[in-house]
Amino acid sequence: MALSSHELKQAVAKAAVQELPPNALLGVGTGSTVDCFIDALAEAGLSIQAAVSSSVRSEQRLRDHGIEVLSLNDVEQPLDVYVDGADEIDGTGCMIKGGGAALTREKIVASASKAFLCIVDESKQVKTLGRFPLPIEVIEMAIRPVSRALLAMGGQPKVREGVLTDNGHCILDVHGLSIADPLEWDDRLNAIPGIVAHGVFARQKAAKVLVSTQQGVQVVSFI
Ligand code: A5P
Repeated sequence: MALSSHELKQAVAKAAVQELPPNALLGVGTGSTVDCFIDALAEAGLSIQAAVSSSVRSEQRLRDHGIEVLSLNDVEQPLDVYVDGADEIDGTGCMIKGGGAALTREKIVASASKAFLCIVDESKQVKTLGRFPLPIEVIEMAIRPVSRALLAMGGQPKVREGVLTDNGHCILDVHGLSIADPLEWDDRLNAIPGIVAHGVFARQKAAKVLVSTQQGVQVVSFI
């Protein structure tokens, strides 16, 4: 019988635990796949130094399992590895993230880590990023000017209704983009005032991706 979407997430989460270095200082992302990873980490009883979380949601789940959570400001050295899911990942390890609205903290924690270990099921693999609407965290007073800039770049931004991020900002989901050059998009979006962070992870791309398939978990390395 085919594995369900949840079972695929559980399989890749277990495989990710096997990839961790001993006694790791861990960055932890956000989302349903990461929820499975946190559960698998606790279940494995693996010893880690501590975790730095990218969201209130993951922090709570880590603490519920008795895993110590540190603030990034209390950590002196780079985190050993950052484990997170993605909404889309291309053949070079660049990703769209932010479906769970945690993209800003995810990017910060990923940047503070030596390597990004991405955990996905095969539905997230794409040739070109952009079918998944690109999440962008925006300061509320800048929604109109940022939206105009995004329209000029060929996208159709829509405010994600009823959602505020852990940082108290809004999310614009940008439809209709084809992100063939993620590095260029990463830099162009960074130049728009009012954007707190955007969901193109090209400068913080995955070093390795574990892909859950019906045939098992495949490992793709980008370094
Ligand atoms: C959270 O903001 C996102 O970046 C998630 O990493 C992404 O949406 C993947 O989530 P799932 O594991 O729930 O698909």
